Amino acid sequence: MSSSDGISHDQWKTRFGFMLAAMGSAVGLGNIWRFSYVAGESGGATFLLIYLFFVLIIGIPLLLTEFSIGKAGQMDAVGSFKRLAPNTKWHLTGVMGVIGGVLILSFYSVVSGWTLFYLYQYVTGAYWTEPDGGFGAAFEAWTSNPVAPLFWQALFLGLTILIVMRGIKKGIERANNVLMPLLAVLLIFMAVYGLTLDGASEGLSFLFTPDWSMLTEPSVYFMALGQAFFSLSIGICGMLTYSSYLKAKDRLPAATVGIGLMDTVFALIAGVMIFTAVFSFGVEPDSGPPLVFIILPSIFESMPIGHIVGIIFFVLLTMAAFSSALSLLELPVAYVHRTLGLTRKRATLIMGSIIFVLGVTASLGFGVWSHIQIGGNNILDMMDNITANVILPLGGLLMAIFVGWYLSRDQAIKNSEIESPVLQKIWLTIVRFVVPVVMVTILIISIFGLA
Ligand code: PHE
Ligand code: NA
Repeated sequence: MSSSDGISHDQWKTRFGFMLAAMGSAVGLGNIWRFSYVAGESGGATFLLIYLFFVLIIGIPLLLTEFSIGKAGQMDAVGSFKRLAPNTKWHLTGVMGVIGGVLILSFYSVVSGWTLFYLYQYVTGAYWTEPDGGFGAAFEAWTSNPVAPLFWQALFLGLTILIVMRGIKKGIERANNVLMPLLAVLLIFMAVYGLTLDGASEGLSFLFTPDWSMLTEPSVYFMALGQAFFSLSIGICGMLTYSSYLKAKDRLPAATVGIGLMDTVFALIAGVMIFTAVFSFGVEPDSGPPLVFIILPSIFESMPIGHIVGIIFFVLLTMAAFSSALSLLELPVAYVHRTLGLTRKRATLIMGSIIFVLGVTASLGFGVWSHIQIGGNNILDMMDNITANVILPLGGLLMAIFVGWYLSRDQAIKNSEIESPVLQKIWLTIVRFVVPVVMVTILIISIFGLA
């Protein structure tokens, strides 16, 4: 268990365990909460098409790029770069990733706290019928309460801390071995149920009939790119950290494709489930971030077995959020565990507390601090935008340049573990040329076209 440098190194027990954990990282609030409101606001099918295109030509190749750095580096976000590129500044990519991970988990745990609270409301029956004033008012009142959401946020983070403290094999791997199969079963149930609803065909056509005029809308590309990065968990070295716990014999390429496809299938199923429901009940699809918390409860209420569907849905959302939070916390924990020489337990507690405090600001941004806004974005929206639309794409771009141009061709290909010469060529061409060109173009268009 001890690697050559003498640092004791926890590892995944099996490659399958790694795959489940990485899928757990990918599949999360991003697939359900974020995907549905971003797709709803960006026109549905056109967004979906561009999103799928980005996942395929940028996302999955970059996921392999990120995995290849961690597996070859065998260390945390910063350490892996230092090992592969000693005496350079490349490790700053890892530093940015650690900061990004802390920021994402800060707001992620706020939304996860809401999810946990909604689950509680469904278990107790409080939300089986519409509260006075409606679900919209209830959501507003809940999120603007200065104290109660903090309790649920703390509870969610506390559970995350308890698992991450136990390490890779005994904590994160074990938890995902239970969470992921259950998640798959629940999601399939929800999708099949969604297809039996009356509005199914309208929902499906919103999601699958593109409005071609939207293709000239620059913001759609920008949003689709950010969503692809966020959903696949790429660009902040969380996936890099997970791959550093692989054994040498566990190969990357097939696992990478499996993880990318699984995340995309989850997003599609979640989309089908949510938009069929949205159209069955005549709701506008572009209602923004509260979509899942306001509209779905009204929909569940008018369904025959809606309370059971509601419980299942929020169990699913909570588990998906939880498995992603594990990876978001492991990223900074692995880094400070090594650099500050803290025990894993201490490192987890300290990082968890910092993240909690930052998250408190995001939570209060819905109530007592709601006056703190930039361009209509509250604190949580700002954390979300900065990470998904800036830090993640920038991190991904840097990793592509690192592997494509800094490392030697042979080293890059060897680390990728791709065997077929044709695929090697395709992958390297994407990493060297396609990713930088597409991403820089989108960045320029969105900076000049959207301002
Ligand atoms: N991919 C996760 C989701 O879809 C979010 C996430 C982003 C997790 C980055 C880890 C790293 O919810
Ligand atoms: Na995702």
